[in-house]
Amino acid sequence: MSRITAEQLRSWRWYGRDELRSFGHRSRAKQAGFGHEDYMGKPIIGILNSWSEQNSCHMHLKLTADAVRRGILQAGGHPMEIPVLSVGEMLTKPTAMFHRNLLAMETEEVLRANPLDGAVLLGGCDKSTPGLLMGAFSVDLPVIYMPCGPMMKGNWRGQVLGSGSDVWKYWDEKRAGNLSWEEWCEIEDGIARGPGHCMTMGTASTLTALAETLGLCMPGASSIPAVDSAHLRTAAAAGRQMVENVWEQRKPSQIVDERSFHNAIAVDMALGGSTNAMVHLVAMAGRLGIKLPLEKFDEISRRVPLMANLRPAGEYLMEDFYVAGGLRALLTAMGDLLVREVPTITGRTLGENIEGCEVLNEAVIRSRDKALQPDGGTAVLRGNLCPNGAVIKHAAADPKLHRHRGPALVFDHYADLKARIDDPDLPVTADSVLVLRNAGPVGAPGMPEWGQLPIPRKLLMQGVRDMVRLSDCRMSGTSYGACVLHIAPESAVGGPLALVENGDIIELDVPGRRLHLEVSDEELAKRRARWQPAPTRYHRGYAKLFVEHVTQADEGADFDFLQHGPAVPEPEIY
Ligand code: FES
Repeated sequence: MSRITAEQLRSWRWYGRDELRSFGHRSRAKQAGFGHEDYMGKPIIGILNSWSEQNSCHMHLKLTADAVRRGILQAGGHPMEIPVLSVGEMLTKPTAMFHRNLLAMETEEVLRANPLDGAVLLGGCDKSTPGLLMGAFSVDLPVIYMPCGPMMKGNWRGQVLGSGSDVWKYWDEKRAGNLSWEEWCEIEDGIARGPGHCMTMGTASTLTALAETLGLCMPGASSIPAVDSAHLRTAAAAGRQMVENVWEQRKPSQIVDERSFHNAIAVDMALGGSTNAMVHLVAMAGRLGIKLPLEKFDEISRRVPLMANLRPAGEYLMEDFYVAGGLRALLTAMGDLLVREVPTITGRTLGENIEGCEVLNEAVIRSRDKALQPDGGTAVLRGNLCPNGAVIKHAAADPKLHRHRGPALVFDHYADLKARIDDPDLPVTADSVLVLRNAGPVGAPGMPEWGQLPIPRKLLMQGVRDMVRLSDCRMSGTSYGACVLHIAPESAVGGPLALVENGDIIELDVPGRRLHLEVSDEELAKRRARWQPAPTRYHRGYAKLFVEHVTQADEGADFDFLQHGPAVPEPEIY
């Protein structure tokens, strides 16, 4: 498309016309202190800011917004900062995932309802990336995603601490009696030393890297630590680029296609990224009418090696990754595993954006022939327990458990798990298969990150550190262990997980991609006839909307009415 003119700007419909409503719009711009020379005929760029004091990962985003504003003004645009929901992973309950779709709805409507020609989206903490992008994809205005960047490495008595991963590790040591309360408090002091998202290759680092791979960020933006001055310089560059992208009308639908999503899956595997990426990529692709069957993840996982030596699958943290060349260096090292001809927000292709980039530390970003492991380490399972699929990140599990048969020990819901897991009389051995149900999109609700079920204390005392665990929820990207996740359909809607009884034998076969409940079809039919769904506890508000419309994990857990469909008409300006 050729460059648009000032009169073709979307915002011109609000401000530029000679009619009553435009008078109202212009007079209120003057009320805010803006004369015609500030905004008339200029791209009006929203800075959608998910800053909040409740979200420590985003606490620097006011500064980031100021830098974006500077870039927009430099390029002749008019910035308008707009606050949006901040779904902080730590404090938001029942889980930030419950509110991802709310953020997506808000983003879509804020972009559609206001006189904006484009927007820079500020996020980074786990669900903010997919939430902001899902909404932007649906409204299809030009956007750039500006990630908040990872926080600095954690530190405890000279040991490097990684977000999440070291919490799980040291919590188990504390429960096993190997760590004092004072030492635990010292870890609390040192694990989150400044602004930015979790600095392991958890969900946040994964999703921001995938947003960049999709072509939606300034090149290199996702790897820059939050406190590095390059973050603010890149934010200003995003502001300048955004003005240009409005004139050029570079919209998500023209940038992101099926090849971009396949690239994103490949990068997820090369990074050893979070299993959560699967749910979010399916949901984001769904907004653009692109289908990503789970088998596509499995297929790409089998041929893409794990190249980033980052926790939890590897050794290093995001600061090391940045110094080693960051995402652009990894993309370069991936060679023909990626389609390089895909467009990006810079107006250049992905391949052109990374030209000249190189790996600066091969201990952190391995070459393909020295990869940490030959495949991406994420498998999609099928079987009578998960007819619509389940996921395991076997790269982060004890290899001895990749093939396992054991008796089920069932927890009906998370409160049941919490109440009994450390009971000295719990009938559990290292061979048991722990099952958590009613933890899926509808059951929990919101599919929380409960999937790394704790190892029972009595087994921890015996030295057990991993065992097979099944659930219909997710787990943090910073977690590890032989945890089968995202079982679909979930138990709360009558999936087979609802029919498992204590002592049933469950077989996990990762190489064979199989999860099987060794109970006859006849017996399962009898159990199904007896099964009753739990009565809903949600009769009003967003929670009611959520449980009535959320889809299953293999469909991205988006709302059924938000998935791709006919475009919503532009608002009339009456
Ligand atoms: Fe915000 Fe982990 S808590 S990214």
